[in-house]
Amino acid sequence: MLDSRLAELARAAPALRVLTAATDLEHYGRDWTRRWTPAPCAIALPASIDEVQAIARWASAQRVALVPSGGRTGLSGGAVAANGELVVSFERMNRVLDFNAVDRTLTVQPGIALEAVHRAAAEHGLIYPVDFGARGSCSIGGNIATNAGGIRVIRYGNTREWIAGLKLVTASGELLDLNRGLIKNSSGYDLRQLVIGAEGTLGFVVEATLKLTDPPPASQVMLFAVPAMDALMRVFGACRSKLHLSAFEFFTDRALHHVVAHGAQNPFSEISPYYVVTEFDAATDTQQQTALDVFEQCVNEGWVSDGVMSQSEAQAAALWRLRDTITESLAPHRPYKNDISVRISAVPAFLDEMSALLTREYPQFDVVWFGHIGDGNLHINVVKPEGLDDTAFIAQCEQVTKQLAAMLHKYGGSISAEHGIGLVKKDYLQSTRSVAEIALMRGVRATFDPLGLLNPGKLFE
Ligand code: LAC
Ligand code: ZN
Repeated sequence: MLDSRLAELARAAPALRVLTAATDLEHYGRDWTRRWTPAPCAIALPASIDEVQAIARWASAQRVALVPSGGRTGLSGGAVAANGELVVSFERMNRVLDFNAVDRTLTVQPGIALEAVHRAAAEHGLIYPVDFGARGSCSIGGNIATNAGGIRVIRYGNTREWIAGLKLVTASGELLDLNRGLIKNSSGYDLRQLVIGAEGTLGFVVEATLKLTDPPPASQVMLFAVPAMDALMRVFGACRSKLHLSAFEFFTDRALHHVVAHGAQNPFSEISPYYVVTEFDAATDTQQQTALDVFEQCVNEGWVSDGVMSQSEAQAAALWRLRDTITESLAPHRPYKNDISVRISAVPAFLDEMSALLTREYPQFDVVWFGHIGDGNLHINVVKPEGLDDTAFIAQCEQVTKQLAAMLHKYGGSISAEHGIGLVKKDYLQSTRSVAEIALMRGVRATFDPLGLLNPGKLFE
């Protein structure tokens, strides 16, 4: 059966590269979640839009489900293929296609890594400002699928602010050219924005035109040791009112423990329960002096117990490493991940209530908090204890997620700030979107994909 379908695919797209070896099925069938056993039917590696269209037409005719695949660094299972789907990997479609100096845009194929986009922008003296730890291996297509956020949202916003146009192959194999790089376009529904964050359920992005911008002025990085949770938002308030921030990130002592075990250097001799990494413009003596004043104010108020200010790019990179490598350092421990958000103004009350919940419910677990606190986005990772089997561990964690979801509902927050719903969070979507909203989303999905073949089972059933 499978062989005859794949033979049909080979007829439809004779030059298409298709892999079926067991090691390939395993490699391309999973993402960083490692929770599901990969079981795709095959892997297609298209090299052109024509080939992606041929795959979509074939999938419709043969009723084969498709899973789009980029760098597979996703943390919600959005790129998992565990049910005989055909994985469509964009790794061969990874080139820069065009730079337009007047429009200040870079047009790329979806499989290009975020870091390669950064390099390409820099060659033209510009930046693509979306950035996060997985930059070396995640792909722009995946960033678009999840509306990826990261460490610079506080200044630049999420991926959706930086997409000037998209080409999309629909479920029926049509090619749509959405927004075409226009700045102003009041001509009805913005389908480009609908596709961003749709987790591959509305079509496959085969080309993206990215907005670029000027590089920021010279910056400095400060690392603060913060003695109490309620001081975190006070430090944020002080920094935000006086400095021009490009990042404000926090992590706990448990996170520091894991990154240090992973090779990072701890600049402090004393242990502190919380840490903040903040980056701000420091191009002038006045800006640098203001940063020192803010630090002094925070110390005098008792909000900060110690601090380090970068004096070189190498020092800034070393401080960033403490934050950037948290996910990587936790990965071998198979953590259960939460990626939640509330409005910034709700963070203090939410933090109080949530930390009480976690202390009560997880006394036996190593709970690692970190995240983009300046955006109201917290990552809570529960590390799987040695010896506890996966199913029991996840079941215990899900009990707490139910309570967390109820709390998020009360605060009007979100069960996924930036990683996406995928498979991991779909049971909790209702904490964040109303029944009426979900019904409309179902209708949109059915319009784009009437046969239900695009990344089925992700986001919602
Ligand atoms: C981070 C990723 C996990 O913030 O979202 O490190
Ligand atoms: Zn994050």
